Amino acid sequence: MDTTDEWIVERTGIKERRWIDPATDDMPSTMGTKAAKKAIENAGLKPSDIDFIIFATLSPDYYFPGPGVQVQDLLGIPEIGALDVRNQCSGFIYGLSVGDQFIKTGMYKNILLIGSEYHSGGLEKSTRGRGVSVIFGDGAGAVVLSRSEKKDKGILSTHLHAEGKHAKELALIGPATNRWVDTIMKENDPNDTSYYPYMNGNFVFKHAVTRFQEVIFEALKENGHQPNEIDMLIPHQANLRISQFVQKKLGLEDHQVYNNIMRYGNTTAASIPIALSEAHLEGKIKDNHLVCLAAFGSGFTWASALIRW
Ligand code: UT7
Repeated sequence: MDTTDEWIVERTGIKERRWIDPATDDMPSTMGTKAAKKAIENAGLKPSDIDFIIFATLSPDYYFPGPGVQVQDLLGIPEIGALDVRNQCSGFIYGLSVGDQFIKTGMYKNILLIGSEYHSGGLEKSTRGRGVSVIFGDGAGAVVLSRSEKKDKGILSTHLHAEGKHAKELALIGPATNRWVDTIMKENDPNDTSYYPYMNGNFVFKHAVTRFQEVIFEALKENGHQPNEIDMLIPHQANLRISQFVQKKLGLEDHQVYNNIMRYGNTTAASIPIALSEAHLEGKIKDNHLVCLAAFGSGFTWASALIRW
């Protein structure tokens, strides 16, 4: 395709990304399972301690069923529930919110939450598709949510929003019920792009910078905090320019915001758990830190979570 490294770095901040080697068996379910095994081990648990699975992805192995059940099988956990979340870039925080409610009501004790994406196989790798295809990377991340008796710790609040009138501004229209495979095959149109992801980049960008700020302020206000009290903001890694804009608007220093889009591109539902995991491993998230997660993406959907670590 007609693009340059200079364009990509300047417009998105992306220097590297990971794409699955099609010669391997890797799929969203298997990558998610690898991440899940690490998360379960880091939590000092065994797969059998998990009593519910939540899987966020826009690129499931199959049209149906979603990959939650495949993870259950791959981990060898018998007959627990598995929920698939379809909220794209906000999917991890939507899943976090659902898991949080299940834990707070006492229904479950240890919930496995995964974000995993396999974008590379489905992108339009041509000049026509370059606005979308240079951005997205493959990856997976996972966390275990567990019940704790410490009242002042954990997920303080989550905030979920949607504005469906913009559904087509960032979407993959078909094949789906709206545009079934039969229609695509019958038309056999070489100019048909309905089965590639489409993004109205500028439009999405403008909404993203506003909604990120709004939803972060909403979480802070709900808990009586100011932006300068955030120890670590982990924004969904959509575009480095979006993260930097939001950082500036909130008046945050570099050490208060974690970005790794430079190394992975935009991994949609996987971007926050990958960044959270790296920030934690690098010692940038410490006990008692105020951690804020925020996301915006297709739907449009946007969301935030405030966590006392
Ligand atoms: O994660 C979910 C949410 N997603 C986002 O938040 C992403 C939001 N949007 C973006 O990140 C940016 O809009 C993009 C990175 C997708 C595009 O950056 P932009 O600065 O908005 O560029 P643009 O779409 O306005 O395009 C500017 C020019 C156009 O050429 P002309 O019309 O000015 O001649 C495009 O054709 O850049 C051209 N262009 C490219 N050139 C080289 C578009 N893609 C490419 C490319 N390489 N890959």
